[in-house]
This record gives sequence, structure tokens and C-alpha cells, in this order.
Amino acid sequence: MTATAVAHPNIALVKYWGKADASLALPATGSVSMGLDVFPTTTTVTVDGGSGDGLEARDAFTLNGRVVEDGALVRVREFLDLVRDLAGSDAHASVVSENTVPTGAGLASSASGFAALAAAASSAYGLDLSTRDLSRLARRGSGSATRSIPGGVAVWHAGDDQGSYAEPIPAPPMAMVVVTIDAGPKPIGSREAMRRTIATSPFYPAWVTSTTETVGDMLDACAAGDFTRIGEITESNALRMHATIEGAFPPIRYLNARSVAVFDAVAELRAAGVEAYATADAGPNVVVLTKPEDRGAVASALAGFGDVIESGTGPGARLVRSEGTGTPDPGVVPDRQEGAE
Ligand code: PMV
Repeated sequence: MTATAVAHPNIALVKYWGKADASLALPATGSVSMGLDVFPTTTTVTVDGGSGDGLEARDAFTLNGRVVEDGALVRVREFLDLVRDLAGSDAHASVVSENTVPTGAGLASSASGFAALAAAASSAYGLDLSTRDLSRLARRGSGSATRSIPGGVAVWHAGDDQGSYAEPIPAPPMAMVVVTIDAGPKPIGSREAMRRTIATSPFYPAWVTSTTETVGDMLDACAAGDFTRIGEITESNALRMHATIEGAFPPIRYLNARSVAVFDAVAELRAAGVEAYATADAGPNVVVLTKPEDRGAVASALAGFGDVIESGTGPGARLVRSEGTGTPDPGVVPDRQEGAE
């Protein structure tokens, strides 16, 4: 029983920052993202049939050719436990993942990672989940992974365990330019930073209230195909998230002087008539939202600030191979949304 899946990262246009329920990974607010068509993660899960606690029978995790034995292995095991619960299995598995995202750089490597793991592991354990249920499962691995299951432009609903999943929404054609300023690991991971922000930032309640409104505004702007409004909301919401995080104690600051310089350069591009809007996740790297026809010009203008990669709107997670799993032939992850047909 082995299955291989591919998933891509996504960049939030309206950010997820903080959980309402940590054990179920329910977000405090909804969020909206664009999936990328660069930096795929390819993950193969092989269920080996062994069970119990013998060392040789435990789950194993290899990332980019290196055996992982730290906290990342614990997260993968905990995630496989959820899959095993759903499948009624106690068999261990080996997970082999090739991740082309600069891991831990605030470029959502966990989004593509847990989306690919959810798709591959559920198939390897013989589950045949709908896109919605796969998105709910990916959520338990990493919040942003919820949105990498549908890909494209997607909304992730806040709600209870059943209602908190991501689904595609109509949107105008868009592109992104990723400016990698620093590909090293971030000083503090998003889980811990979220906890500290909720516990200590006086701005956090305002973040929750305003972001809940902003999700509605973004859905309206996407439905109207209003690129300018989408861009304005994207940049504003990113800066609000960073301001909220900076309000934590001890403070957390992800943006550095070079990140801020990219925000300034993007403002200059706008002043020169190129529609471009900056955003940044939990790290110093800046991602610029633009129109597909402008992505080359934006990439050239920002090339001096770091490694620059252009991306279009990417696909959802998909199975590329499954053997002996009882699931149908590999293909796009089944596009069945319960209640939506
Ligand atoms: O999925 P996590 O737990 O790594 O959190 C991601 C948080 C942000 O990337 C900063 C925002 C988002 O919505 O993706």
C-alpha cells in the first residue's frame, strides 16, 4: 500500500493568525489564499504493515533525502495517527518527501507539506476522502495546508470541525512574484508565535474582528473580479497581521529592513502605474501580487532585493501514484464536495 501525492504552497491574501481551538486546529477567523504553481512538495507514503512500539516498526520520515528525527517527525507521526484513526488501522508507515520550498522560511512549506501528506497518507491507508474531507484532514497538520488541497484562489472557513475546510472561489487572473530575502529557518515558528500573540498582544481582539470583516470584503472583491481592491485588501491585511504580531510580548518581528524596502519598492511600482501589492507571512520574505501580464516587469524591478521567482495560480493537491491501496487510479484528488452537488 503506497501512494504518492503532489501539492503546492499557497500565499494568504487574507491571513490566518491564531486558533480558536488548538486541539482541532480551528482558526479564529476565515482566510483567503492564492495557490502557487511553483515549489511543489512530492510525498510518498508506504504503509508497511508493522504495528506496535518496536523501534524498527515505528513511522519513519525522510525529507529531501535526510532521515528526520526531531520535532518534524513527531508532527508527522501525530498526523499519521489521525489518518490511522479514520482508517481503523494501527500499521506504521514510511514517509518520503521532496520539498522544493525553502523549509521554514515563512513561505508556507508546511502548507504544501501537510497537503501532500494528507493526500498520500489517506490513499495509502485505503481512505477515499472527498476534497472537503481531505482539506479538513490537512488542517490538522498545519492550518495553511487546508487551503493547499483545493489550490487556486480558495477560502478557508472558520467554523466547527465539520465546517472548517477550504474551497475554491471565482477570482480574476492573478500572479505572484516571490522575493526570497532569507531562505534560512525563521527565529520563531508560527505555532508558538500565534500562541504568544493571542496571550500577549493587545491588538489581537481587533485583529479577529477586522479580519472577519476583511474576509467578506475579499470574497466580494474576488466575485466582482476587482483586482485593485483584492490587492489593496491583501497589502493592508498583511500589515495588520504583522502589527498584531509585533504587539506581542516579548515582541516578535518577522519583517526586516530588506522586507520593508521591498514594500517601498512595490509602492513605487504602483506610483509608476504597475499594479502590484506586497504581502508577507511568518518570515522576512515578501510576495507580490500582480496581474499575469505584469509579472515579468515586477520580477525585473525587484530582482535586486533577493532571489525572485514568478508564479501563476497553481493546482490543488493530487495523487500521482497509488498501488495496492484500493483507491481509484491516480489522478486529480476526487473533486467531490459533499452538499455542494
Ligand atoms: O499553517 P501555519 O500554522 O504555518 O500558519 C500560517 C500562517 C501564515 O502563513 C502567516 C498566514 C496564512 O494564512 O498562511
